[in-house]
Amino acid sequence: MPNNEPIRVLLVCLGNICRSPLAEFIVRQRAIERGFSGRFHFESAGTGDWHVGNGADRRMKQTAASHGIDLGPHRASQVTRSRVDQWDWLVAMDAANRNDLLAMGADPERTLMMRQFENDGRPRDVPDPYYGGEQGFEDVFEILSSNADALLDHLNRIHEL
Ligand code: 4NP
Repeated sequence: MPNNEPIRVLLVCLGNICRSPLAEFIVRQRAIERGFSGRFHFESAGTGDWHVGNGADRRMKQTAASHGIDLGPHRASQVTRSRVDQWDWLVAMDAANRNDLLAMGADPERTLMMRQFENDGRPRDVPDPYYGGEQGFEDVFEILSSNADALLDHLNRIHEL
């Protein structure tokens, strides 16, 4: 698909204050490091509206900062039925997020799972850390960090970079 429009990718979780903001910042940074950031436009959103306009969760910001990532600029937004087709790719953090996107009318073939390229390719969730302890946030960082390149590889292959 050779054209010069950036490939629009929306990372999606429930609240858009923990998992998907970090996914957005990690994947964007990885694309910059790999030299093709100009080909992509990354944003993130939640399926829920509770935190719209808020910054990232304090615990997620602390974990991100300990790995050199500043989530300070993030403000939460919601993905809704009217916005769901504004993206080339939706990347859900867990199966419930993906189901919610499909219920909004998202194209199943363009609605990926963040961990779908891991190991045997079976769909796994990025666990929701919100109601858990500190370790859950570190686990989210490790999971997202170790899956970012595979997601970018997949998108690059499809778009023949
Ligand atoms: P996230 O985490 O989906 O990774 O942003 C959550 C944030 C807020 C809530 C649930 C999950 N909440 O219920 O408010």
